[in-house]
Amino acid sequence: MTIRPVLFAACLALLPAAAQAQAAGDPAKGAGVAKRCAACHSLEEGGSNKIGPHLWGVVGRPIASVPDFAYSDAMKAFSEGGAKTWTPELLDAYLTDPKKTIPGNKMAFPGLKNDKQRADLIAYLDTLK
Ligand code: HEC
Repeated sequence: MTIRPVLFAACLALLPAAAQAQAAGDPAKGAGVAKRCAACHSLEEGGSNKIGPHLWGVVGRPIASVPDFAYSDAMKAFSEGGAKTWTPELLDAYLTDPKKTIPGNKMAFPGLKNDKQRADLIAYLDTLK
């Protein structure tokens, strides 16, 4: 009978959708989470650097690329001369544990361990463009 192949195909079709739904955060909730970043980072278009570089357009932006911000040597080295960009996956790792992901970087933030809050935050950061 054909039921098994059909079920199999249905599962394959559903898998990516399920993975995506899990990864996609809620930007509206993420805006609230981002208040924890605002002490050190401007989130506005054309915002200036504070203790950290401005985060406008950070998703997809080359690492350590904001002009006039004095990045640490660790952050500059990690960027491999601008070849690496902030993908959602890399942001997720960095924001979980900044010190472990980029040893020696100078962001004094302990990390956001809550997976849902991080997903919401990254979805919000992705709207800043
Ligand atoms: C206590 C201040 C502080 C807080 C709070 C903070 N950051 Fe940072 N952040 C920094 C500093 C300083 C750097 C630069 C690090 C370096 O050069 O080593 C940085 C760098 C970054 C970068 C790299 C940017 C680039 O241009 O490559 C990202 C992304 C980032 N922070 C995101 C966040 C997010 C999102 C939050 C909130 C969850 C946050 N930070 C909270 C100080 C902070």
